[in-house]
Parts: sequence; C-alpha cells; structure tokens
Amino acid sequence: MCPVISPVMRPVIRKAGRSLLWLLLAVPAALMLAGLMRGTTPAMDLLHPSGELSVRLMLLALLPGPLAEFFGANRFLRGWLAIRRNLGVAAFAYAMLHLAFYVVDMGALAPMVDEFALPPIWTGWLALALMVPPAAVSFDAAMRALGRRWKALQRLVYAAFALGLVHWLLLDWHWQPAAVHLAPLVIAWALRRHSRGRGRNLARSTT
Ligand code: HEM
Repeated sequence: MCPVISPVMRPVIRKAGRSLLWLLLAVPAALMLAGLMRGTTPAMDLLHPSGELSVRLMLLALLPGPLAEFFGANRFLRGWLAIRRNLGVAAFAYAMLHLAFYVVDMGALAPMVDEFALPPIWTGWLALALMVPPAAVSFDAAMRALGRRWKALQRLVYAAFALGLVHWLLLDWHWQPAAVHLAPLVIAWALRRHSRGRGRNLARSTT
C-alpha cells in the first residue's frame, strides 16, 4: 500500500530529495578535482570526462519535455520534469569545470588566445557562452519576472547542445559520439511531432 504523506512533510521531503540530487551530481566533480589535486590525473585527462558529462546532463535536461508530450506526464516523467532545471544548471557547472581544466592545462593566457580562432576551440567557447543566459535565469524569481521570455531564453540550450556536439566532432573526428548523444533527442522530437500531428488531426475531425 502506498503510504500517505502529510502536506506538511511534502516540502521537507522535496528539499531532502533536491539536496540528495545535488550531492549525487557533485560526486564526479569531487572525484575529478581530487585526482587533479593529488596529481594522479593531469588536467588534460579531465577535459574529456567533464565535457562529456556536461553534454550528457544537457541531454537529460532536454529530453523530458518532448517525452512528456508524447507519453503524457506520468509519475516518472513528472519527477524528471521537476529536476530538469537542476540538470541544466549542473550541465553549466560541468562546462565551467571543463573550462577550468582547460585553463590549468594551457597554463597561460597567450596560448589560449592563439588557438581561440580554431573551429574546434571557438565552438566550445560559443557553446559555453550560450549556456550562460539560461543558467543565469534558472531560479524561480527570474522565471516569474521574465514570463514568456524565460522559455525563449531556455531555448538557447538547444543551440549550446548542438555546438557542444560540433565541438566534440571537430576535436576527435569521430562522428559516433555526437550521433549517439543526438539520437535520443531526435527520437524524442519525432515522437512529439507525431503526437502534435495526431492532436491536430483529432481537432480537425471533431470540428
Ligand atoms: C570554454 C570553452 C571550451 C574550450 C576552450 C574547450 C576546449 C576543449 C579541449 C581543448 C578539449 C580536449 C580535446 C582533447 O582531448 O585533446 C575538449 C574536449 C571536450 N569538450 Fe570542450 N571546450 C570548451 C567548452 C565545452 C563545452 C561548453 C562543452 C559541452 C557542451 C564541451 C564538450 C567537450 C567534450 C564532450 C570534449 C571531449 C572530446 C574528446 O575527448 O574527444 N566543451 N574541450
């Protein structure tokens, strides 16, 4: 039997769940930083995991919207939707960590400026720049203040995600990782398109 949770306890449980989620999201960062501090993992070797995790978290933040439109907001998808802003902010945090590892690896500003104009590098900078506005307004007060513009700003994440994949493709010249990370989103979009089309047809047939 499903236990009934009192309304007083609900915010407490929600807060505890959110803290646990952030704790889990922080574990990879803690391990990466520990390796760097101990000198067991050079900053160069941390570029791949931090960049990859940022892309994956962005994907996890983008997926529940279209999936909920297709499958309906069942309990699982409602829970996923409820944490999607956290996932987006964590993606941004890992992109910043990735940048920090890049700075440590390069060791000085001059070589960073020298390679800035290279397509595999400026695509990374642009992806990060596009992540800044959505991350900066990802709290409740900004959401309320911006109204419809808030959603428009959040759409920048799609562009950041695409550029992150181009950056990845240009860096290692293998199309498979970019394709594997793009495929779930393309499938989710296709499902959403299908359900919107179905809705339009239904509306037409009933008018
Ligand atoms: C701040 C700007 C950025 C710079 C300067 C930068 C630079 C780099 C460099 C130098 C590498 C290492 C390539 C190698 O292993 O030799 C790398 C890898 C990677 N970056 Fe970035 N990056 C930036 C932003 C981003 C962002 C925002 C994302 C994600 C959205 C990202 C995702 C990745 C991924 C997935 C890899 C792994 C590629 C591989 O190992 O083949 N990067 N980045």
